[in-house]
Amino acid sequence: MKNKIFVAREVFQEVLDFLAPHCEVQANQEDKVLTAEELAGVLADKEGAMTTLTERIDESLLSRCPRLKAVCNIAVGYNNIDLAACNAHGVLATNTPGVLDDTTADFAWALILATARRLNEAEAYIRARQWDKWKLKQFLGLDVHHAVLGIIGLGRIGQVVARRAMGFEMEVLYHDVRRAAPEIESACRATYVPKEELFRKADIVTIHIPYSRETHHAVGAPEIALMKKSAILIHAARGGVLDDAALVEALRKGAIAGAGLDVFEGEPAIHPGFGELKNVVLSPHIASSSEKTRFRMAMKAAENLVAALASGNPPNLLNPEVKKGA
Ligand code: DGY
Repeated sequence: MKNKIFVAREVFQEVLDFLAPHCEVQANQEDKVLTAEELAGVLADKEGAMTTLTERIDESLLSRCPRLKAVCNIAVGYNNIDLAACNAHGVLATNTPGVLDDTTADFAWALILATARRLNEAEAYIRARQWDKWKLKQFLGLDVHHAVLGIIGLGRIGQVVARRAMGFEMEVLYHDVRRAAPEIESACRATYVPKEELFRKADIVTIHIPYSRETHHAVGAPEIALMKKSAILIHAARGGVLDDAALVEALRKGAIAGAGLDVFEGEPAIHPGFGELKNVVLSPHIASSSEKTRFRMAMKAAENLVAALASGNPPNLLNPEVKKGA
């Protein structure tokens, strides 16, 4: 008998076609975000789930889904999955590392350039038919070339962001909980500095660390207070790493020049202050959203799920310590 699985959000038809020979698939192609109750109800008789950051997999859910063996996230981030609870219930959890680094780094650069050069303000102005003459001092922005780029987190995505900075002949500083290996530092031409120094010196700070209890508000009022008045802050990592209220406060006071944000605390709701500020470029968590990359992410999650159910050994296992059969 085939394992029953649930694909929790809309995916590409090719992904469902890949899964079909292996599993009995129930798919949510209407793309409704299920409540915790609805999700527990659907997963009660399933062996596997393909999830996204909108599905919370925790003790309360797992205790109601006794057949569940694998939860495969269509994301590299997995703060929606409680790994300790998965371990306790013998559930394998996987993510999708590697396939979205370039695309996400590209988007961080889109935010850097748009924020530094005030592209959203300029576009709103021209669309509002306000452009009546060329002006020397129109939308004066921040030069990206030869600026100091400060990267918080020199992981896979942070490294790609750093390598892209060479084209702009920038000085790259980084901070991370652990210093990167010398060969990574030299490939990225990035210099390790204490966090405070990075915030003080950088013209552009960009955040690339995952969200966890430890990284909650890793960038907040004390860090933003160190930034130059002319500097900008970019965030395309995960809501909660940045203290959004502290950023709104800093932008309102003109303590920094602007921000480019793809992720938010409590998204899809956003801090109401962002809506009132002109010097913020906002996007709805789309940094990895190129056609090819979102397809690869969904396919990777499907491959993880098939392998998890067939062999118990999926390629991107997050919790090898899982107590199988517990
Ligand atoms: C990820 O992969 O974690 C992204 O945030 C989802 O797009």
